[in-house]
Amino acid sequence: MPTYPIAEINLAALKHNFLRVKDCAPNSKVMSVIKADAYGHGDVEVAKALHKSDAFAVARLSEGIQLREAGIDKPIVLLEGIHSKSQCEQAARFELSPVFHYQQQIQWLSESTSLSAPLSFCWLMVETGMHRLGFSPEKINEAIIELKKSENIDGDIGLMSHFANADSEGDERNQQQQAVMSELLADHIGPISMANSAAIMTLPDSHQDWVRPGLMLYGASPFEHKTAQSLDLKPVMQTKAQLISVDQLQEGDQVGYGGDWQANKAMRVGTVNIGYGDGYNRLLSNRAYVSIHHQVVKVLGRVSMDMICIDLSAIEQAKIGDEVVLWGNGNVSVDQVAKQAQTIAYELLCGLNQRVERQYHG
Ligand SMILES: Cc1ncc(COP(=O)(O)O)c(C=O)c1O
Repeated sequence: MPTYPIAEINLAALKHNFLRVKDCAPNSKVMSVIKADAYGHGDVEVAKALHKSDAFAVARLSEGIQLREAGIDKPIVLLEGIHSKSQCEQAARFELSPVFHYQQQIQWLSESTSLSAPLSFCWLMVETGMHRLGFSPEKINEAIIELKKSENIDGDIGLMSHFANADSEGDERNQQQQAVMSELLADHIGPISMANSAAIMTLPDSHQDWVRPGLMLYGASPFEHKTAQSLDLKPVMQTKAQLISVDQLQEGDQVGYGGDWQANKAMRVGTVNIGYGDGYNRLLSNRAYVSIHHQVVKVLGRVSMDMICIDLSAIEQAKIGDEVVLWGNGNVSVDQVAKQAQTIAYELLCGLNQRVERQYHG
């Protein structure tokens, strides 16, 4: 009997979604994005399951080191790069591939005198319209020349950029970002990478040498108006908790902190052992739906730290110990629940914390 709450991670679904990436971008290498603990799915387990990836990408040095220490030997790209000379040395020691996005990072590399070995693979981030990270197109050639001069690099230098609006289909800003990148390509001989999940599925011209899927690997949709199912993506995480109380309410009874949900009839209510202390977003108060006995029922009142209350008026057979699915099956997709929380699936998936045991299947 599992100790709830749990998040079941379906590795067969993960591999299916990886094949979707390959179908969409058959001529590109795949850099699977497994930052933030693989969007909450467990980075080491995901990296092992996705061993057919050509590389992995994480945000931070510590994430890269953790993967290396767990025996992951594929190239690992640090999307935010290094932030001191000593981080640069560590990146070299663990054979990690930083993305350089500001001048000082290149300087730290050039000035390092005690690297265990030169970096064998690194990237430069080009700012093409998102205005978050990267060298402007005017400055990129200078950065390339400077990197090439460094004795601490001995391998490919790729050019990377990131879409701000790939999830907005037909948005002309995507073409504008691609046009900025295309102008630079004429002068560049190294690999190119632009496409995240949304671009992988809808902007084939952007695929280039490397694609960088994140969300689609985990079976959620980056598009507001397209379901994961319609994109042939399978949910990887199924988050489950358990009924720990079943109670009878009378008309007028209030439920939860603040009493801001009130019964308008006599009815049954259940208490489920998951809350914001597990990463079940408090914005789901009075808004979310969960699945129990294959039926969808509403969350009543505020989400508390360890518990939520749900409407059991239509579920006569519900009893203490029954399993409740918070997201991840056909009835309650993570995309639907994210909308109920007025957020995106990324946040719900990453937000589920270590209090919720991950169990791997498939
Ligand atoms: C630089 C970069 N590339 C790729 C990705 C993957 O994006 P997605 O999860 O939308 O596929 C991310 C995610 O935030 C990112 O920051």
